[in-house]
Amino acid sequence: MYNLAVFGNPIAHSLSPTIHAEFAQQTGIEVNYDKILAPIDGFNHKAQQFIDEGATGFNITVPFKLDAYNFATKLTLNAKTAGAVNTIKVEGSELVGENTDGIGLVNDLVNNLGVNLKDKTILILGAGGATQGILLPLLKENPKRVMIANRTASKAQQLQQDFAQYGNTCGFGLEKIKNEPVDVIINATSASLDGKMPNIANGCADGAICYDLMYGKQTPFMDWAKANNASMIVDGLGMLVEQAASSFEFWTGKKPNTQKVMENLRR
Ligand code: ATR
Repeated sequence: MYNLAVFGNPIAHSLSPTIHAEFAQQTGIEVNYDKILAPIDGFNHKAQQFIDEGATGFNITVPFKLDAYNFATKLTLNAKTAGAVNTIKVEGSELVGENTDGIGLVNDLVNNLGVNLKDKTILILGAGGATQGILLPLLKENPKRVMIANRTASKAQQLQQDFAQYGNTCGFGLEKIKNEPVDVIINATSASLDGKMPNIANGCADGAICYDLMYGKQTPFMDWAKANNASMIVDGLGMLVEQAASSFEFWTGKKPNTQKVMENLRR
């Protein structure tokens, strides 16, 4: 029996228990997957309690991904570069921290949407935790270039420096985005949460695949993409399911099929 859970605050509306229950049924693996609300300053205590009760592993969502990064005793390269942990596996006395967010995004783009990222120009909006979490998996697909544009240019420049060893990146301010088409635009800002759209050149969306990491509602970024001739407009639901699948595989060694789960959630 795999004893699993997701920690967050808030956590009531998390889709993870539903997704993992479907994976469990599909693979025939026995799983118990709970939702655990931790107090804002009480992640470690709650997580330790769960481990003491016999946890096999757990997911970590907002706002505890940095706490989980510090709580893990061992980190994968992916988690290290992401600077955040969304999956922990209990391995004897070790707590192995992984981050499956970026892998989830890449698997959704490549496997579900049929988007080959090799030699493509990718523009990421935002330079916060979400961007840091997806950069390594994106760069591993060998795109021509990953441009990071942020309201605060210095944060984008910092990410350019940090990730230069993994591929061709460049970081700059939003106002420097050219009025020229790119292949893929990823909205990794938190602007959608406030019902806002970063102010950028319209021309870059022409024919582009526009991907918002948010899911659950039509965002201003998706409206903007539609108004500016994007070729494909996608929300982050596929990424959510794929990051869950990748966590499931990290714990159990079995890769679940994500198609059915996605169809059920879209319904
Ligand atoms: P997350 O972990 O979700 O990435 P974060 O680390 O707080 O959250 O980062 C939020 C990102 O969204 C930042 O890149 C932020 O830009 P700044 O670095 O300039 O603050 C970006 N962001 C938030 N609201 C925005 C808006 N209205 N327009 C443009 N960018 C916005």
